[in-house]
Amino acid sequence: MTNFSEVYEAVYQRGDLGGIDRRLAVNPLTNPPAGARPNSIAVEGGAFGDEGKGRVVDEVCGRMIGVRHQGVVYRWNGGANAGHTVIVGERRLALHQVPSGALFSGVTVVLGKGMVIHPGDLLAEIAEVRAIAGELPATLQVDEMAVLALDTHRALENVLKTWAEGGRGATGRGISPAYADVLFRHPLRVRDLAAEDWRDRLSRHYDLYTALVGGLGGDLAGQPVARLVGGPIPVGGKAEFLARLGEQRAALLPFIHSVYGLIRDLWADPAVPFIFEGAQAVGLDPRFGVYPDVTSSDPTFHGIVASTEGLIQTGAIAVRMATLKATYTSSVGTRRLPTMMAPDLAGRIREDAHEYGATTKRPRDIAHIDLPCLRFFAQVSGATHLVLTHLDIAYPDVPVRVCTHYLDAQGRPAGYRPDQVYLDSVQAQYRDLPSWDGAAVCNVSRLDDLPDAALRYIAFLAGALGVTPLFGTTGPAREALIAWLPG
Ligand code: IMP
Repeated sequence: MTNFSEVYEAVYQRGDLGGIDRRLAVNPLTNPPAGARPNSIAVEGGAFGDEGKGRVVDEVCGRMIGVRHQGVVYRWNGGANAGHTVIVGERRLALHQVPSGALFSGVTVVLGKGMVIHPGDLLAEIAEVRAIAGELPATLQVDEMAVLALDTHRALENVLKTWAEGGRGATGRGISPAYADVLFRHPLRVRDLAAEDWRDRLSRHYDLYTALVGGLGGDLAGQPVARLVGGPIPVGGKAEFLARLGEQRAALLPFIHSVYGLIRDLWADPAVPFIFEGAQAVGLDPRFGVYPDVTSSDPTFHGIVASTEGLIQTGAIAVRMATLKATYTSSVGTRRLPTMMAPDLAGRIREDAHEYGATTKRPRDIAHIDLPCLRFFAQVSGATHLVLTHLDIAYPDVPVRVCTHYLDAQGRPAGYRPDQVYLDSVQAQYRDLPSWDGAAVCNVSRLDDLPDAALRYIAFLAGALGVTPLFGTTGPAREALIAWLPG
């Protein structure tokens, strides 16, 4: 268990900002640590998702790819459970399976092996990008090794919710049954949909799911399942299910590739920018998050290793950024965090920061910053750098409250463990830190314009988590961004 007092004393008593009042002297992208590849960066959610990763990827793409018109944006996990909004001119574009980098021309966007793909929702999303951007600016490649997450999986997930407590917070996108198929060793991969005999393979899958859903007392054909566009529709009988997939298959075929050789060759050329875009967050990891309300994919940087079949090791990525909301944490689902805020402050933040789910529209829970938990997440995932979003969500009359440790059931100091039962038994202990006027910080883009209290807080948080700040955001506009990254 970490004692954060030393960092507190350094920042708040000795005024040591650890250099965060100026840009980094060395660009870690061009001068990476030994063993890491230049021009490589990965972005993960550092808490419980919805930290604004898409926005950061957008910024990084602009810097690394914008002028060169070449590069790779690689999404390594999750599926249609993710959601973020990209502003294109006057219009808002909601992305779920397609990474944010898809709006940059010249980029190769890869939907990697670690993802689960819903063909119908993916096509709807591609159509939306085309409607706004004219054509798909990027080259989109869906790895044939990615796993299919179909309406059958959504139906099983819905029915399971009535039996088992664990997945009740799930998004209804069939994520856990699709990943469970991998562990059961009978997944349907994208290549099964592309195969000549796809009809036989999907027919057998439909039969299996008829038995699974039926065994739990449900009716597969009649089970309503969520859609990206429009309301829920029933899965339908086998003929209807196959006919729908047949149409989607034809439309998706041009996007389906074996990406292994491409990634191997492009990674070998250090001049090619690589941006890894994660979905969800470490707090939703099945082994490290608040089990059981976790997702089923591998949202940490380590997921990149599995998704690329070991071509890319975590330590070879020059910059591994954990993204956090600066002054609070949001969470959507059924998990109970030890640092939940009192309803009045939570309500104020929820409205000011518009904390409603992008995929499910659910109001998000709002919690105080939990240092034992967030430090565990940063360390276990191997984060090197930090992105702090929502620096404008701070109130001059309300201190920033951070949890420094827990007390266990016996009143002894305790740290984070990835288990809801354990977390229910601890009590968060807090320290209040000086706040600033978020409204005055809104749209600030120069480090010099940040108030002293904000600088100290950032220095404290970075020190407590053991990472270096790289970006901060001060509002929804693209320009409302502070960069510690030089250049
Ligand atoms: P699933 O990923 O749909 O199985 O959902 C499992 C848990 O992860 C639920 O509590 C969801 O609310 C949460 N979750 C999944 N995706 C996201 C996300 O992109 N942001 C925030 N929470 C998510």
